[in-house]
Amino acid sequence: MFPSVLTPEQVAALAGVPAQTTTPLLSVDVGNPGHAVSPVLPGVMFEDINHSGEGGIYAELVQNRSMMADDSTPVHWSAVGEATLALDTTTPLNAALDRSLKVVLPSGAGAGNRAGVANDGFWGIPVRPGTTYTARLFAKASKRIGPLTVAIESADGATVYASAHVPHIGTAFPGRPFELTLRTGSRTPVAGDARLTVTTAAPTAAGETLWLQHVSLFPPTHHNRPNGLRVDLMDKLVALKPKFLRFPGGNFVEGNTVATRFNWKNTIGPVWERPGHMDDAWGYWSTDGLGLLEYLEWVEDLHAQPVLAVYAGYSLKGEHVTGDKLQPFVQDALDEIEYVTGPVTSTWGARRAADGHPEPFPLEFVEIGNEDWFDSSGSYDERFAAFHDAIKAKYPQLKLIATTPVTSRTPDLIDEHYYLAPSAAQASTHKYDDRDRNATKVFVGEWAAQEGRPTPDLNAALGDAAWLAGLIRNSDQVLMECYAPLFSHVKNNVWATNLIAYDNLTSYVSPSYWAQHMLTSRLGDTVLRATARALPGLATVATRSGNRLYLAVVNCRTHQLDVPIELKGLARGVRRKATATVLTGPSRAATNTLAEPDTLVPRTSTVTGAAASFTSTVPPLSVTVLELVLT
Ligand code: AHR
Repeated sequence: MFPSVLTPEQVAALAGVPAQTTTPLLSVDVGNPGHAVSPVLPGVMFEDINHSGEGGIYAELVQNRSMMADDSTPVHWSAVGEATLALDTTTPLNAALDRSLKVVLPSGAGAGNRAGVANDGFWGIPVRPGTTYTARLFAKASKRIGPLTVAIESADGATVYASAHVPHIGTAFPGRPFELTLRTGSRTPVAGDARLTVTTAAPTAAGETLWLQHVSLFPPTHHNRPNGLRVDLMDKLVALKPKFLRFPGGNFVEGNTVATRFNWKNTIGPVWERPGHMDDAWGYWSTDGLGLLEYLEWVEDLHAQPVLAVYAGYSLKGEHVTGDKLQPFVQDALDEIEYVTGPVTSTWGARRAADGHPEPFPLEFVEIGNEDWFDSSGSYDERFAAFHDAIKAKYPQLKLIATTPVTSRTPDLIDEHYYLAPSAAQASTHKYDDRDRNATKVFVGEWAAQEGRPTPDLNAALGDAAWLAGLIRNSDQVLMECYAPLFSHVKNNVWATNLIAYDNLTSYVSPSYWAQHMLTSRLGDTVLRATARALPGLATVATRSGNRLYLAVVNCRTHQLDVPIELKGLARGVRRKATATVLTGPSRAATNTLAEPDTLVPRTSTVTGAAASFTSTVPPLSVTVLELVLT
C-alpha cells in the first residue's frame, strides 16, 4: 500500500524500467505517413433478419400481401362485417401466387352494412397526416360487383383515415393490379395501429364471393421508387456514407435448406409474379418484393457498390451440393452476375433492362456463400473452386471472397466474422497489428460487440469503436468491414444486438452507429503511425488527408483521462484551434431507445491549445475524434 498515488517515475523506479516507459504518451508520427486507408473500408451488411426487410426497410405496409405466408390460414387477414375468409388454392393469380384469399360475402350487404377483409400490417399499419399512399390489388368476384373500397382506418374501424374505390370488379383477375391513391387529411393523427381494409357495401346475394391477391400498400418511399424503401431508414444509411452494401445475407442467402435459399431468379420481375419463400433462418415469410434489382437500386441510392453474396451449395441445416449437382448453382451465379453487369444484348442483361434498368451495375466483389466453416462435411474447398473457376473464366476482373480458408484456390479476400463481448472487442483492437502482411486480405463482413437489446449500449459502442480503430489502422490488411446485423424491428428482436431499430412509425440509431459514423466520417486517406504508451484502456487511430489530421481516442475506462499527445515530424505546426467530437454517456449501460432516441449523440465543439505537444482530456467512457489543422 502506498500513502498516495505513485508518479510514473516512482512506478518506473519500483519496476526497474526506464521512467519514460511508464509516462503516458500518445505519439503520432505525422512526418512519416503509413499506408493508405482502404478506399472501400466501411460498408453495411444487410439480410432479412428481425424483420429487417419485410416490415423493415422494404416499405410494404401489408403483411402477407400474397397470401403465401401460411398454407392453411390467411394469416394477418381478418373479416370485416359478416364475411367469411379462406385460403383458396383452386383460384391462383398465376403460377407464382398459386392461391388467393376467398371472401364469401353475406347476403344483403348494402350501404351501412359493408363486408370484406382487414390486414393488420406489421404490428399495425402506420398512418400520418397529409400523406399519399399507393394501394395495388388484384380482385375478382363471382359476378360483377362494385364499388370495392380500399381504406386505411383505425383498428376498430370507427375512423377512416383515407380511402379510395375500385368502381367495378369483374369475374376474372385483371392482367395488372388495380392501382389506387389514398391520401390522408391534414388533421389525420399519427397512429401506428391502423389497418387496411378492402370491403364492399354493394348489395349482394347469398354466396357472392370475392377473391383477392397481392393486396399491397406503400407509403412514400426513398427517392419515390415504386416498390421502394423506407425513407427514415434510408436516410440513416445514407448518412453513414457506406462504400458498399453486402447482401443478401448472412444466413438469409443460405436458407435452412437448399429449397429455402435466396433463389435470385424468383426475386425479379413484377412483384406479383414472385412466389416468395420462407425465411426459415429467421422465422417469417419473405415476399421477395425486396429482390435482386431492388437491392441493386438500393446500392445505387447509397452511392455505394454491391458486395454480391451468391448461394454456394450449402444450407444451414447441413445440406451441401457437390460434383455435377453443383453445376446448376454455379450457372445460377454466372447468370446472376450477368443480370447485374451484362449488356442489354446478353440474356440476363436484357432481362434486367425489361425489369426497368438497362444500365448495367458496377460489380467488383462477389462472395461465395456465407460462413462455410459451419459445413462440417468439408466440401467448401471443392465448392469454392467450382465457383471460382467458372466466375474467373468469364469475369477475370471480379474479386472473389471466400467465407473460410481454402487451399485449392487463392481467394482475393477472406470474410471473417467476429461477434464479441464488449471487453473482448476492446482488447481486440490490436488483433491485426502483427498479421502477416503477405497473407490473403481480409473482409470483416460481420462484426459487433454484443451487449444491449435491440441495440448496443455505450459499453458495446466503446468495444465497437476500439475494434473499428484497429480495423482502420490495419486497413492495408482489412480492406473492407461491415457491422452486423444492421436492423431490428422492436417487435421482432430475434438477434439481440443490432445497429438500428424501429417500429412501424419511427426509428433510432444506437451509440455504436454514432461511434462508427464518427470514425468513418472523420477519416483521412492515410494512416499515421500512433503509439500509445502507459495509456491502458485506450484505443486510438490517427489518419490524415492534406492538412487535416484526425485522431480518434477511445477511452473504455470509467475515469477521465489526460492524454499527452506528441505530433512528431510536423513540417510546420498545427493550428491552436481544433474541433473535438465526443460521444459519451453516464454509464456503460446508457443507450438510446425508440422513446429516447437522442440520449447518446456525438457533440462537436471547438477546442484550443493544440500544438506539437499538448494534452487532451478525454471523458470517461468516451469516443473522441480530434480534427487538427496542420499549418
Ligand atoms: O448476423 C446474424 C448472423 O450471424 C448471420 O446471418 C450469420 O452470417 C452469422 O452467423
